[in-house]
Amino acid sequence: MLWLLKGFWPGAMGMMCQRFHTAGSHSKGRTGAEHLWLTRHLKDPFVKAAKVESYRCRSAFKLLEVDERHRILRPGLRVLDCGAAPGSWSQVAVQRVNAAGTDLGAPVGFVLGVDLLHIFPLEGATFLCPADVTDPRILQRIRELLPGGRADVILSDMAPSATGIRSLDHDRLLGLCSSLLDLAPDVLHPGGTFLCKTWAGSQSLAFQKRLTEQFQSARTVKPRASRKESSEVYLLATQYRRGKEFAED
Ligand SMILES: C[S@@+](CC[C@H](N)C(=O)[O-])C[C@H]1O[C@@H](n2cnc3c(N)ncnc32)[C@H](O)[C@@H]1O
Repeated sequence: MLWLLKGFWPGAMGMMCQRFHTAGSHSKGRTGAEHLWLTRHLKDPFVKAAKVESYRCRSAFKLLEVDERHRILRPGLRVLDCGAAPGSWSQVAVQRVNAAGTDLGAPVGFVLGVDLLHIFPLEGATFLCPADVTDPRILQRIRELLPGGRADVILSDMAPSATGIRSLDHDRLLGLCSSLLDLAPDVLHPGGTFLCKTWAGSQSLAFQKRLTEQFQSARTVKPRASRKESSEVYLLATQYRRGKEFAED
């Protein structure tokens, strides 16, 4: 990611992956808002960069920046990628943990992506889809698929379909994050990392407090590929203290 290292950070614009995948090539019948979105999307430097770098969507650059800054992924780690479709975070994770074994001299990691939607296969990644990460039956499958039954890193870029009502969307996303954190004792290895997308709002502080209690360190991160005008903020927590089988330690 030479251009990342050189500090070339284009302005934040664009839309979520799902919209990228539903944008057609004909302009007839579009509303003004759709036309505005498409114009902005086509000009978005992160969309262009994603094409050049063969990432499935621009979100890849959010995880790349978090990893450049905080070094959460390294060869040999096991990653659980929640809300993985269409798969750009999994692409980044596969590269960084060497899940495809392309670096013969480095430990081989593992990437498990889970989503409600179908995800096209990706070399080096295992996908569990369609699957709801909050469904207790899926938790069992996740544990069976992860080597040793645990992940070193839980990533979540999950987002419920937005209603446009800010407080409701915030509550629903924080509910998802909270359900995911409830799984941590069963899935996350002690010392592990948790990165999740949130939309800032009334429940943010309480959720951050939960993270602070369960991890040695927790911080908010706003990658440059995350649009400035969006309330999207990522929470990064490191050095997980708990784990069911280790709870007595
Ligand atoms: C912004 S997209 C993720 C983009 C992805 N990080 C990437 O880089 O390709 C959010 C995803 O969260 C998924 N999602 C929402 N709720 C979910 C749930 N309960 N279980 C699994 N996936 C969920 C949606 O289906 C959607 O594909």
